[in-house]
Amino acid sequence: MIVCSCNVITDKELREAAARLREANGGSVVTPGAVFRELGHRPRCGGCFVAVVPIIHEVETGDGSAATGEKAPFEAPKDVTVGGKAGSTKARKKESAT
Ligand code: FES
Repeated sequence: MIVCSCNVITDKELREAAARLREANGGSVVTPGAVFRELGHRPRCGGCFVAVVPIIHEVETGDGSAATGEKAPFEAPKDVTVGGKAGSTKARKKESAT
């Protein structure tokens, strides 16, 4: 599937380029710009980045689980809430003080 319409880059090309870069750089974080350069292109409008970044992160998990949708690469912890509700740091402090 074509992900970047400006440069006509497919998701498969992005995954393969990200994997090559990751392997060549000892597992360091791969950026969209680096992947585009690896493919001999440069970003133009940047509109595809919202789709490019998750594809690159699929490669970064290294176990293929993100590629199948089994696990999000940066999933937030489920027990944390915002606004002083149960599970927040404030609520935990109250619990531990009692
Ligand atoms: S769609 Fe990828 S740079 Fe424009």
